[in-house]
Amino acid sequence: MIAPISASRAPMVTALPRPRRSGDIATCLVVDDEPRLRQALARVLEKDGYVTHQAASGAEALAVMQEQSIALVLSDLRMPGMDGTQLLRELRARYPDVAVVMISAVDDVDTAVHCLANGAMDYLSKPCHLEEVRQRIRQALERRRLVLTERDYHAELESRVAEQARRLESLFFNSIQSLADSLEAKDRYTRGHSTRVSYYSGVIAREMGRPADDIWQIELGGHVHDLGKIGVREAVLNKPGRLTDDEYEHIMTHMMVGWRILAPLLSESPMALNIVRWHHERYDGRGGPDRLAGEHIPLEARIAAVADSFDAMTSRRPYRPGLWMPLEKALEELRVHRTKQFDPDAVDAFLSVIERGGVDWERMGGTMDDGLGDGWPHRKPE
Ligand SMILES: [Fe+2]
Repeated sequence: MIAPISASRAPMVTALPRPRRSGDIATCLVVDDEPRLRQALARVLEKDGYVTHQAASGAEALAVMQEQSIALVLSDLRMPGMDGTQLLRELRARYPDVAVVMISAVDDVDTAVHCLANGAMDYLSKPCHLEEVRQRIRQALERRRLVLTERDYHAELESRVAEQARRLESLFFNSIQSLADSLEAKDRYTRGHSTRVSYYSGVIAREMGRPADDIWQIELGGHVHDLGKIGVREAVLNKPGRLTDDEYEHIMTHMMVGWRILAPLLSESPMALNIVRWHHERYDGRGGPDRLAGEHIPLEARIAAVADSFDAMTSRRPYRPGLWMPLEKALEELRVHRTKQFDPDAVDAFLSVIERGGVDWERMGGTMDDGLGDGWPHRKPE
């Protein structure tokens, strides 16, 4: 037996803010198979200023939901056909922003807990008191408003954080670019060389099945691997002909100089930093600066070593004419020094990409006039 809604039996309630009327009138849907109670509830809500729709079943409720923008559903639990719990499930799945208040003649804690656990915002048991219904509806709508406000706030916060991260990333790359520009001003060879080392390293890493983030870091490491040459005297950097032992030692400080400059900037890209420090290590342990050997050298540095040496061999440097070699000869050098200077797997990966025509020589190319690398090598090595 459903007791009539009666204002006289209303308990004392704390006043809540009235629903906002202008521009933000909440639209409610009352679902109950019992027309008398449904109409009574609808009248209560209308009196409080809500736009109210009615449905006599779960299916009818879903049809109304498709047509109307509903903020709150007040639904009976026991209904023929689709019952209240099924309707609640459908509403949570299809309309997660809607506040759902269940109402039932069953004064059963388990049922109430079940409804709340499945996403109902509140649970009322019949007989209902007018003031109680009004208060719980206002509470549910207020909670919904807070949830939506918080969600919007978080979405905005996330978008601001993402924007900030993009700005920081762009500032970071600008700093790296400025450093690279300083080096270019000193060493005309480096720009084209770094671009190519970056590309070849990416090619090898891809062939070796490295994941996308590794490849990104490896390509970045290729771009900046020689940055420490900023600290090398210009006369030594651009010296034609053979270097003295002292000059060679001086030039070989560039790995540690670069590593020290970039360590604070590349803390999020440790693989790129490893390339800067260890791209002159040799697989047989006779390289530097730390004389690491074999797999003690991080894979990314072993990859960059192959790319770096290959480009050094195939690039024409104006100040060292005659030191470059044709493609076949350079590939032969890689084969000969496999396991001595180079990681055999990295060499094999590079050779197999080249053999199947997977290196975009044109991308590494250009003309003498395009400013990229100042004129070398610009075409597929002969
Ligand atoms: Fe280097």
